[in-house]
Amino acid sequence: MKITDFIEYKQTGRKISMLTCYDFWTAKIVDNSSVDCLLVGDSLSMVMHGHDSTVTATMEMMELHTQAVSRGASSKFIVGDMPFLSNRGSLDKSLDNVLRLMRAGAHAIKLEGVKGNEALIQHLVESGVPVMGHLGLMPQSVNTLGGYKVQGKNQQQADQITEQALLAQELGCFSIVLECVPETLGKSLSQALQIPVIGIGAGVETDGQVLVMQDMLGTSEHKARFVRTYCNLQETLTQAFDQFDNDVKAQQYPNADESYPS
Ligand code: KIV
Ligand code: NA
Repeated sequence: MKITDFIEYKQTGRKISMLTCYDFWTAKIVDNSSVDCLLVGDSLSMVMHGHDSTVTATMEMMELHTQAVSRGASSKFIVGDMPFLSNRGSLDKSLDNVLRLMRAGAHAIKLEGVKGNEALIQHLVESGVPVMGHLGLMPQSVNTLGGYKVQGKNQQQADQITEQALLAQELGCFSIVLECVPETLGKSLSQALQIPVIGIGAGVETDGQVLVMQDMLGTSEHKARFVRTYCNLQETLTQAFDQFDNDVKAQQYPNADESYPS
């Protein structure tokens, strides 16, 4: 998938699949799959580093994980996520941070919210950096939201989100992520925009879907309503670990074929 496919797929009604990816070994596996594109999301601070929100993600983390993913998934379109406040200082500082993600292998960047980011989005687009917006539930604002809740439930909230999405499009965003909103809003927003809306917990009528890889693989503790688990990797891995442990203790591993003869 390349940048121009996003608008083309929207126009032809072909849905876009996106997964988060944080490391080399899963990047290699997903690179051989039909999944369209990858997001090195700041959710990695929770999934890969055990933090309890994305607020603690740093540029260093995002840069390192983007480099690893880009080495593993050389054929995929990779979006790098701007971590908390990394795009909220001066324009210069924000540009430095964007450059770090692009140099690390991202083909585009994603940032949460449009309000207050208008000048930066416009400047990036003019400078040759594709920008993906992110509206609805914005996890970096968990401390002002007071938790992870469905957004846009009343008409006023829904109108605000729609207004911001239209502005994102006007500023030149090539796509937006829409997180945790009623399916009716997912549908109406997708119809209102010319750019594709990639939903997560936004119903089936969006232009594409994104999931956190570890959620869909079944290794995450908290399961949001919108998550579908496509395999039980937790169980598969636990069985493998226990089997290894068992074999070691029973001297069933290694066998003769797994040992070097004299
Ligand atoms: O960081 C992330 O994983 C995300 C997706 C949920 C869209 O932003
Ligand atoms: Na994110």
